[in-house]
Amino acid sequence: QILILDFGSQYTQLIARRVRELDVYCEIHPYNHIPELTPDIKGVILSGSPCSVRDLEAPRIDLDLFRKQVPVLGVCYGAQLMAQLLGGDVLPSAHREYGRARLDVVDADSSLLAGLSDASQVWMSHGDTIGRIPDNFKIIASTESVEIAAFKIADELTYGIQFHPEVTHSTEGKKLLHNFVVDICGCKQTWTSESFADMTIQSLRLKLGNDRVVMALSGGVDSTVAATLVHRAIGDNLFCIFVDNGVLRKDEFEQVLHSYEDMGLNIKGVDAKAQFYAALAGLSEPEAKRKAIGRTFIEVFDQEAHLIQDVKWLGQGTIYPDVIESVSVKGPSATIKSHHNVGGLPDFMKLRIVEPLNTLFKDEVRAVGRTLGVPAHILSRHPFPGPGLAIRILGEVTPEKVAILQEVDALFINGLKKRGLYDEVWQAGTMLLPIQSVGVMGDERTYEQVVALRAVTSVDGMTADWAHLPYDFLAEVSNDIINRVKGVNRVVYDISSKPPATIEWE
Ligand code: XMP
Repeated sequence: QILILDFGSQYTQLIARRVRELDVYCEIHPYNHIPELTPDIKGVILSGSPCSVRDLEAPRIDLDLFRKQVPVLGVCYGAQLMAQLLGGDVLPSAHREYGRARLDVVDADSSLLAGLSDASQVWMSHGDTIGRIPDNFKIIASTESVEIAAFKIADELTYGIQFHPEVTHSTEGKKLLHNFVVDICGCKQTWTSESFADMTIQSLRLKLGNDRVVMALSGGVDSTVAATLVHRAIGDNLFCIFVDNGVLRKDEFEQVLHSYEDMGLNIKGVDAKAQFYAALAGLSEPEAKRKAIGRTFIEVFDQEAHLIQDVKWLGQGTIYPDVIESVSVKGPSATIKSHHNVGGLPDFMKLRIVEPLNTLFKDEVRAVGRTLGVPAHILSRHPFPGPGLAIRILGEVTPEKVAILQEVDALFINGLKKRGLYDEVWQAGTMLLPIQSVGVMGDERTYEQVVALRAVTSVDGMTADWAHLPYDFLAEVSNDIINRVKGVNRVVYDISSKPPATIEWE
């Protein structure tokens, strides 16, 4: 595997994904928690950083922990840090070095740059630049404004590059990473979804033995794929629970439950609608609604988990970005849930945790799901928030409002599917607005609800743009909704991007 040391760059995860795309396993670790160099670590990549190596407080590491033992590649800050630590100079750039540049390979013999075409496009993004390199460093590539665009240290497999090979704008970045990871480090390209599934099932079998595991499923990709892996390992010693919280999509509970049964999972559906509605009654503030749902879910799950004798483990669908986030250079994020801090933990929280997907990115989870035969309609589902329609009904949630929004949502989502637009958008949904508007139907004046349609394109949900759905499609859906859903007389389409708006309205 490749060890990636993170100095806080926004692109660190992208480096990891590119390495994984080469079918080579890699892990990201923060620069201040460097794991011991074991024989399976074949090379080290130092990431970029928002910091400047010229700052006294800038993150630094002891290169001797791995240098000259395995090949090393410093990217941007990583390269500048090596240059500085080994006696070179890093200066503020005289001119801004951002965006596209053309890379001239100066040393055609360099294995790092082997096979790269002349003047290939690379992506620069740095405010500092390496002004002078120590004597034993050799420049292997330059750009028009950056002389030391890439260097190698003599007599060792240590390299630095000031551009970012991991971004798609560096057109031959993948080739460069292949050169480093496969040719220089000698990694075998055996990390595939099939090998991951086989290895994981085997190691889960060893780890779990005859123990019982309980898991809450949501119908989403992550929990479903995680459960499938555990089920393949231990069969019906995995007890799955799927809770109807009353704010799922129309018919979702029944449909998802059937899919799980078809997949052979040992699944129990729990109708807890009444409990959730009671907890939501009178609440209109978004965070209060989220907390009420979170708390109720824990109560329901704890109660159900108690009904299973001798459970030892709690299975979870945690994926790699969540793990990286919680150990990141920027410090643990504020994702610690409020229930961790109040009173005693519910009993199931004292179980040991098993998270078979905690080394995978989302697209890898989907690939593993495909390998395992998880139905395509589950793998291609849009993300759906845990608090469900409760945060799409602005203001207080009532069963009547849920029923209206479920109908509206089903017309929109099924419309997208029929028109082949569902897979074009990253997420879609509808909001029930807390206002009424005047309309006219037949000869009668109406005074009814307004709904908003929301569809976005995105890569990870962190930023998003509104989806430019065809006007005739929007017209058709709007017509359908107003004609078929009693109580709604107006439909609007949300054309805000994130930021500054968010995907959800609450
Ligand atoms: P926002 O609205 O912050 O949403 O742009 C980004 C993504 O997160 C989802 N989301 C949630 N998911 N619990 C969840 O499990 C929540 O409370 C929650 N709030 C937002 C949202 O659907 C989108 O995919």
